[in-house]
Amino acid sequence: MKPIFHKYFICIALTVFFYKCNSDMQESCRPSDVYKPPRGSIPVDSKEYLKCNKMRPVVPAKIKEKLRSFFLNDRTLLEIQRRLLIDINKGLAKNTHDTAVVKCYVTYVQDLPTGNEEGKFLALDLSGAGLRILLVEFTKENVEIRSKLFSIPKHIMLGSGEHLFDHVADCVYKFMKEENLLAETLPLGFTFGFPVIQKSLTSGILRRWTKGFNCSDVEGHDVVQLLQNAINRRGIEGHVKVLALINDTIGTLLSSAFQNPDTRIGVIVSTGTNACYLEKQRRAELFDGINMGSGNVLINSEWGAFGDDGSLDFIRTSFDKELDDYTVNPGKQLHEKMISGMYLGELVRLVLEKFTKEGLLFKGVGSDLLFTRDRFPSKYVSDIEADRFGTYTNCIEILEELGLKQATEQDYINVRYICECISKRAAYLVASGISALLNRISESKVTVGIDGKVYKYHPHFHNLLVEKISHLVKPGIQFELKLAEDSNGMGAALIAAVAEQYNII
Ligand code: GLC
Repeated sequence: MKPIFHKYFICIALTVFFYKCNSDMQESCRPSDVYKPPRGSIPVDSKEYLKCNKMRPVVPAKIKEKLRSFFLNDRTLLEIQRRLLIDINKGLAKNTHDTAVVKCYVTYVQDLPTGNEEGKFLALDLSGAGLRILLVEFTKENVEIRSKLFSIPKHIMLGSGEHLFDHVADCVYKFMKEENLLAETLPLGFTFGFPVIQKSLTSGILRRWTKGFNCSDVEGHDVVQLLQNAINRRGIEGHVKVLALINDTIGTLLSSAFQNPDTRIGVIVSTGTNACYLEKQRRAELFDGINMGSGNVLINSEWGAFGDDGSLDFIRTSFDKELDDYTVNPGKQLHEKMISGMYLGELVRLVLEKFTKEGLLFKGVGSDLLFTRDRFPSKYVSDIEADRFGTYTNCIEILEELGLKQATEQDYINVRYICECISKRAAYLVASGISALLNRISESKVTVGIDGKVYKYHPHFHNLLVEKISHLVKPGIQFELKLAEDSNGMGAALIAAVAEQYNII
């Protein structure tokens, strides 16, 4: 061979070799599979980071293949984004609102906080399985928050509405007593994390329960009235004045805006998921309030119900369908059921159960706990993915708790991979939703206030969101995701402060 051909030959061979290595890497190690340290942990140095990625443990092809339906590529995510934007328009328009699945409820909040709010407020946050009561004091210098979390036992979540609100009023009484507040009359902001049709800032009709609640005689009723009745029954009506009702996403947006004036979107990824955003009043056809100057209004999208008309069927897996069948609201909140903390763990458990029965995990031997519904909380998913690369401390502990002592190292690797596939899909769906709103708002720089257990405690959720939103957002839009701590309560107190200031009620 002439030397010149030699050179060509070596060149081509090297190109083919590098191409092959690269595509193998892509197959076994897509960018977001890459190990990223949980927020708050000690950063790994770059050599270890590179080593980690090269040595990514191998997941058997059979398992990967079976999980393929959880992968959403950018093209699919853009299609989901397009469908969500269509549904948002339907929710906002007068003639399609009634049949729309993404309701886009108009709220009566037009202005964002200025940061100059002052006073002492009570806030009540009923958004998930816990009830949080807060005392929030805004002064010129700072904000002081004292709060207590009360549980809502399952029998109350599924009992009568009267019982639920009596429990709430009782907790308010206990909190006020413990904080020595029974000699005062305090304005109260009520955060209610369920789909409500607002009639004014102080009244809202529950459209339907979500997130495992199913109390009788609340759907179709005004929840502020039900709360007020219970407060009266408890005999504390002289001490509390309900000034405002908001959805929990509105609370998140308001509390983020208190610190970041360019906040336009509020997102929750917790027991449930939802987003709200700042819309022009003229585009919200059902807005019937008086323009107080800004020309804007906050919209509670209720994106958890996206897909309830079948528009997400093209990505739903057999596991999603199985999960849905056993919920208290089958066929409803289908987007939420692929994303939120109430369901992520159960989705993982369903996959583990199936793979075990097929002999792909744990030598084909499961346990009673593994085969019992709801015995794999989403916290396990976060903990398993928080294990440092190549170590399985949390994973081993969790599998032992589930009675799976026979698990091998290959099982740990597989279990972690299953968790990653399911939580990554959840993060990508949220990214697709946030980028849809960013594109709709189309301002050059937007802060997204975000809160919720899944976002806060899943070690990679934030990174996955940022990475994917930047793929899906229109060029030229800059965004920042900011954790809005204690946002539900803070937001309720803020809106009560605004309502009191302007004497809105
Ligand atoms: C559910 C509720 C919604 C709430 C969300 C987050 O989707 O329907 O109102 O905002 O959970 O808590």
